[in-house]
Amino acid sequence: MIEKSFHIITFGCQMNANDSHWLARRLVARGFVEAPLETARAVLLNTCSVREKPEHKVAATLERVRSLTGGNPDVLVGVLGCVAQQYGSTFFTAQSQVRLIAGSDGISGAPEAVERLLAEPGLRLSLLDFTSRYIEREPVHGGASAPVAYVNIMQGCDNFCAYCIVPFTRGRQKSRCAAPILDECRARLDEGTRELVLLGQNVNAFGRDKSGDGTPFAALLARVAALPGIKRLRYLTSHPKDMRPEDVAAFAVLTPLCPHLHLPLQSGSDTILARMGRKYNSRDFLNIVASLHAARPDMTLSTDIIVGFPGENEDDFQATLAMMDACNFISSFSFCYSDRPGARAALFPNKTAPEIKRDRLLRLQAMQENLSRRWLQGRIGEETCLLVEGKSRRQTVSGQTSWQGRDPYGALVHVALPAGADHTGRMAPVRITEAKNRTLTGRLAGDLW
Ligand code: 5AD
Ligand code: SF4
Repeated sequence: MIEKSFHIITFGCQMNANDSHWLARRLVARGFVEAPLETARAVLLNTCSVREKPEHKVAATLERVRSLTGGNPDVLVGVLGCVAQQYGSTFFTAQSQVRLIAGSDGISGAPEAVERLLAEPGLRLSLLDFTSRYIEREPVHGGASAPVAYVNIMQGCDNFCAYCIVPFTRGRQKSRCAAPILDECRARLDEGTRELVLLGQNVNAFGRDKSGDGTPFAALLARVAALPGIKRLRYLTSHPKDMRPEDVAAFAVLTPLCPHLHLPLQSGSDTILARMGRKYNSRDFLNIVASLHAARPDMTLSTDIIVGFPGENEDDFQATLAMMDACNFISSFSFCYSDRPGARAALFPNKTAPEIKRDRLLRLQAMQENLSRRWLQGRIGEETCLLVEGKSRRQTVSGQTSWQGRDPYGALVHVALPAGADHTGRMAPVRITEAKNRTLTGRLAGDLW
């Protein structure tokens, strides 16, 4: 076992992935090295509450860690993130190796805590307090540059949608100040990053809380889009009720802003939307979609859908299918509703039977597959530009290697590029030649830059 070594296991959303990425870089800055689970001195689980029974998944993972490490008491195990926030110190009693619990705001103190816990074997630390303002994390510098970098702009959420656990696990909405966000963006661009993704639970509501400095989202977006070296800009996730006209207009005027938006619809039925507490109806949603297309004719959308929310009947579900068609989503994440203890809907009557939920999910996914396939097929012959992210697992042809990257709409495209060079981070003009179920293939159609 290497004395200062760590292994991180990550579940859940992009925000979690980004938290883990930050944690890894900060531990490396403190002299740690990344190691396989079996040989790491500190094993950290960054957990997610969004799937059903998340505590079972964490328990199963802790069991796996115990068996792979032989229960060695010198191994420090930490449970971090949303499930840690929810279940707190119960994980201390679950397994003696667990000596660190850090909730969503506590992660900022995790690198220091890991060092302390390794020096003091009898100690246990629990970092579960929510802060009232966004706590700036130690910046990360150096290390390999990535073509795409994610930058947190806020934490938490104030919406309390009836089904959702996030306001309880990540706390109230706390925006970051614009200056450190811009500094972090500049640092990534200076390292060679070409695409920035701004992250938050509800990014369009950025600035509308007591943390941060009140900079509106559209103003932040314009300042990030103007940074030297930026080629592409995206953001995640948006709540339709917080999409302002100036956010829509940004798609028409900010050149780096990609023509794609992830806009969770959740349901197409106005009755269900009202009961979910979403504060928009299907007409509002269609109006946003129309204004986005007016601002940017090639705009594409993806979404999240929950089927089988309490009280959802076949007509409600048909309304969701009709909205899927009307909005022409190019992809979607879809889920069967399930209770989250603590969220309001857990107490709602008229729960949908599991077999009906599964049936609706399959019908919805079949429809999405058709929409996605139609969109991908329609792209054949089109010229586009990829940001090359790495080698792809496809066969290589003589003198050429297969690479993959994303086009401005976020579609994954494979392309054969000259062998013998590292093309990571380059922009590749390609002509689309083939569409599979989920990916595209293209031919290089100009100079890499
Ligand atoms: N049941 C099913 N899906 C849910 N989501 C959030 N909470 C639940 C729940 N209780 C889905 C929503 C959200 C996505 C991240 O997870 O669609 O947008
Ligand atoms: Fe999962 Fe939501 Fe927490 Fe992300 S914020 S890790 S999706 S529960």
